[in-house]
Amino acid sequence: MSAQDAAKRETAATSEVDAKRSRADQPKPFVSIPDNFDGYALDSFCIPKHYEDSLERILLPHGIIMDRVAKMARDIVSDLEYEPLTCLCILKGGHQFFADLVDRIKMLNESGPLSLPLRIDFIRAKSYEDDHSTGKVQIIGGDNMESIRGRNVLIVEDMIDTGNTMVKLLATLREYEPKTLRVASLFVKRTPLSNGYKPHCTSDRPSNTYPTRASPLLPLLMSTAFLDTGFEVPNHFVVGYALDYNEYFRDLPHVAILNDTGKEKYKMSSHD
Ligand code: IMP
Repeated sequence: MSAQDAAKRETAATSEVDAKRSRADQPKPFVSIPDNFDGYALDSFCIPKHYEDSLERILLPHGIIMDRVAKMARDIVSDLEYEPLTCLCILKGGHQFFADLVDRIKMLNESGPLSLPLRIDFIRAKSYEDDHSTGKVQIIGGDNMESIRGRNVLIVEDMIDTGNTMVKLLATLREYEPKTLRVASLFVKRTPLSNGYKPHCTSDRPSNTYPTRASPLLPLLMSTAFLDTGFEVPNHFVVGYALDYNEYFRDLPHVAILNDTGKEKYKMSSHD
């Protein structure tokens, strides 16, 4: 091959990588549930008998969640262009979303002309007290995290609330130098306590627009870990689809708002 051909080939390869990167960096649409959304009456859907007196309204029926998960799986697969992927499930709340998301990726693998090799792992992320402002999380369980070095990693989480767990987890995982790091969170809560880790924030966000609660690492993390979001939800405590209140409600198929009876009935002290 002539030097000219080699240079042309290299230019083509570079622009392909750039195109791929910019496609993957494009903010993806997500479903935003407005603050004044009433949700659905409990008797419109099937609810386990043992929870009937503990819920206010259904915020998201199971079917809508499943439809949204299907699209999130499609976005992830098409951005990765069938490169191998390690999916990291954050237990316990993320397990249902993880199972359904991985199922959809497997379905795409079975039906398309190309397929994406999958690895899966399960961890629990426990924040621990730290004097340093960057903070850390203790990763419990799972393989040795060295296994993510050089790989495309998708962190699968149920909910980003303040964002503190995710920012700390990303900083910890980044130390293992994965090839790419991406987060899929089914829910992001609209809360004044947010540290700024939210969908649609990309590297071009000026650093001085981050909220005062923001971690100093946030601009770096936002530019290196894309966040896929299923639904942005109002600032309520929600349960169901594996999200719990003191370990209860994980077995509720829909996502619902807890009422005062539920909060009292399943209070920590009354069941410990
Ligand atoms: P963060 O560190 O404040 O973002 O909290 C994230 C974790 O808190 C999530 O992984 C959830 O397990 C839990 N969490 C936050 N909000 C809710 C909720 O409304 N229902 C159930 N769990 C929640």
